[in-house]
Amino acid sequence: MIEQTLSIIKPDAVERNLVETIKKKFSQEKLKILKSKKIQISKDEAAEFYKIHQTKPFYDRLCNYLSSGPIVVMVLEGENAIKENRRIMGSTNPKEAAEGTIRKLYGISIDKNSVHGSDSTDNAKQEINFFFKIN
Ligand code: CMP
Repeated sequence: MIEQTLSIIKPDAVERNLVETIKKKFSQEKLKILKSKKIQISKDEAAEFYKIHQTKPFYDRLCNYLSSGPIVVMVLEGENAIKENRRIMGSTNPKEAAEGTIRKLYGISIDKNSVHGSDSTDNAKQEINFFFKIN
């Protein structure tokens, strides 16, 4: 099934000029970048985006981090895009990520893990809407 999913290139990867490298990887893996914009969000916006994690001990750290510098948000489209994007990203913790995945190649730590990707159809819809409501 052709799906759309939201991808974020996080501050650690933008800062290290990895945007084009990561975009190329998505394209090579047959995920089409339908929309892309570079933005910086506030801590309140990060808190809203990650509210699914609000009870977790790492929530505050996570919100501070996502709002700490520019990010690139994208809509990816392709066959099973949600699952495919998660496969291409690798496990949340770069130390546990499979060889060749984005997080294994570029992730620094579980916080600075370079990319985010929606984990379900409902979340993909919500997350795309969150970042691309206006444009
Ligand atoms: P992400 O896929 O963006 O979703 C939530 C983020 O929380 C996750 O990537 C990690 O960067 C971050 N995080 C920090 N600590 C943890 C943890 N113990 N478990 C899961 N995610 C964590």
